Amino acid sequence: MDKFIIQGPRRLQGDVEISGAKNAVLPLMAASLLARGESAIENVPDLRDVRTMIKLLRILGAEASLDGSVLSINTKSANGIEAPYDLVRTMRASIYVLGSLLATHGKARVSLPGGCAWGPRPIDLHLMAIERLGARVKLDHGYIYASSKRLKGTEIAFPVSSVGATANAMMAASLARGTTVIRNAALEPEVSELAKALVSGGVAIDGIGTSTLTIEGTQSLNPFRHRVIPDRIEAGTYAAAAVITGGSVRLHRCDPSHMEAVFNALKASGAEIKIENESVLVEGPKRAEPGHIVTREYPGFPTDMQAQIMAVLCRAKGFSTIKDTIYPDRFTHVPELRRFGADIRLDGNLAVINGVPSFQGAPVMATDIRASSALILAGLVAEGTTEVLRVYHIDRGYDRIVEKLRGLGAEIQRVSD
Ligand code: UD1
Repeated sequence: MDKFIIQGPRRLQGDVEISGAKNAVLPLMAASLLARGESAIENVPDLRDVRTMIKLLRILGAEASLDGSVLSINTKSANGIEAPYDLVRTMRASIYVLGSLLATHGKARVSLPGGCAWGPRPIDLHLMAIERLGARVKLDHGYIYASSKRLKGTEIAFPVSSVGATANAMMAASLARGTTVIRNAALEPEVSELAKALVSGGVAIDGIGTSTLTIEGTQSLNPFRHRVIPDRIEAGTYAAAAVITGGSVRLHRCDPSHMEAVFNALKASGAEIKIENESVLVEGPKRAEPGHIVTREYPGFPTDMQAQIMAVLCRAKGFSTIKDTIYPDRFTHVPELRRFGADIRLDGNLAVINGVPSFQGAPVMATDIRASSALILAGLVAEGTTEVLRVYHIDRGYDRIVEKLRGLGAEIQRVSD
């Protein structure tokens, strides 16, 4: 398996282009199954998760090909209804095909995604949503079996805000008879992107960007063409890289309107952030100020930036706290950050951090995408050599990260172990 070798410390400086958002592309790919014909998605990042979803679409009978950053999906022969365990276990987002397969074919067989590195991650709300729309759902031998005649519009009130369940409910409701009202819908920009693509396919959706979505189902969706928004987590990671290294990084093609909470946290740590016409300039302080972060649903501070901000605060001038209210167990990076010399105490979902002046390079290993990027950030400022093992996770979510970091002056290389 490949690993990254990083020589530190280095101050990052220069320009970086932000790629399209992974978490926006994946539901759009699933949504293409709702239409007969060829849909196109632009600004698609070249990621392992995108390739996994392409494999899944092909297994379902669709033709899918990525040409540069344009993904074409032709569904005219997409008659499959099963998302097999082998693919679903490598990527939870495969669950997105549940709503579209059910709505299109009246049945779906999708492997249960199971837990993940940082906790159980249930799917009860996805199932509740499709049951409310009239599906019969059975769990058997590790698979979800869902079936129905044409789905029927209804009211779905989510007890907690869930990105994935909102997306699945929206896709299923798009081909349902009548009106569906989704209450406590997730507000994340990636959910709004899906809604906009469905609208361009002919579904009427009211309330996009709010917590109440009203969806007027249609008999059939037209293929759509959609350009994906910039990845706010990737942009936040490079911004954090500027801050942790005391560097100066200009982010191109990012959307600052999606990044207020992250930018506010970085400003509180002493960074200067200038929103320019087409870019955002992030200048890090010599050494970060401590801070207090609580992850929340959008527009709050994203759980997907929790590990990266932790790397920054571990080198701050005093005590910081980080509480993850979305995933209380999402702390697998803590023991790895300690290997650089970080001083972190965990108390349930609260991390108490005593900032240290320097990190020492170390061999480390991550168990999820964002934890891996936090370890890379730590390696950029650590004295000496850092080896980050299991780069597989980075490949899932970061487009050309070695190239982009080297462009900013980092000394990082990928080697086969
Ligand atoms: C998505 C993102 C992930 C991000 C997360 C939270 C994708 C592909 N993944 O994941 O990167 O970290 O949003 O912003 O977009 N919950 C339930 N029952 C359910 C579903 C969720 O209780 O059926 C809970 C979860 O345990 C969690 C909360 O709802 O506490 C939010 O999770 P959710 O928004 O569903 O996350 P995902 O869509 O899986």
